[in-house]
Amino acid sequence: MRSPLVVGNWKMNGTLVEVSSLAGAIAKELKKKPSKASLVLAPPATALVQLNQKIRRSEISLAAQNCHWQDSGAFTGEVSPLMLRDIGCMYVIVGHSERRHIFHETDEMIAKKLVAAIRNKLRPILCVGETLAEREDGLATKVITRQLRIALKQLARNDIRNVEVAYEPIWAIGTGHNAEPKQITEIHGRIRRFLADSFGQSNAKRVRVLYGGSVKPENSNDLAKTSEVDGLLVGGASLKAETFIPVIRCFDSHG
Ligand code: PGA
Repeated sequence: MRSPLVVGNWKMNGTLVEVSSLAGAIAKELKKKPSKASLVLAPPATALVQLNQKIRRSEISLAAQNCHWQDSGAFTGEVSPLMLRDIGCMYVIVGHSERRHIFHETDEMIAKKLVAAIRNKLRPILCVGETLAEREDGLATKVITRQLRIALKQLARNDIRNVEVAYEPIWAIGTGHNAEPKQITEIHGRIRRFLADSFGQSNAKRVRVLYGGSVKPENSNDLAKTSEVDGLLVGGASLKAETFIPVIRCFDSHG
């Protein structure tokens, strides 16, 4: 019942020309041979408007990498969810570990962003994940449960249907070391149980739980086969069509 989703997070990379040519190459490939997975691209904020024009007639959806929780106001440098919706975004990444750790976003801030995204009809992609030290101390489940509990506490029961959750262990992001299938299945299972306990079984069943952290063509087939993985959030490998296309296609031969 959950169709696979692949998200390309381009982070702070790419001029307009670069972003546009990458998106063009991906769109062309998918037009030739559609993929089973739905594709979402999250370019830098500067490219959102142009990319929206470019992918308008394709199956690709647009995501922002972050948003504020107010619709407007005196928040220099911020972009509101209302503005993102206005320029054609369908999704927004919320609580990425780089936002949490480099920009000190708290669980409480992330909770406000989720509510604001949903209010503006954007689908939030909520990222959760533990540090290496937390995993080594046996705290992975505890940390992720806390992140989910606080981030989702203001959502109404049915709102959860509009959320995607991405498990991204911080020690796997940009390091070349992805988590093992067993570790992923265990955490994704925990996430799903948490969602069922908090929002009811039938709502929880609809939420896609993605994996992210050093996803690349070499591991994407195994990840796609991993039980409880409904999709992938891809950083580095999404920056080149040669590496991103095989990752997008990894769901085509499964299930
Ligand atoms: P990575 O990044 O694929 O480069 O590890 C993933 C992410 O940060 O979402």
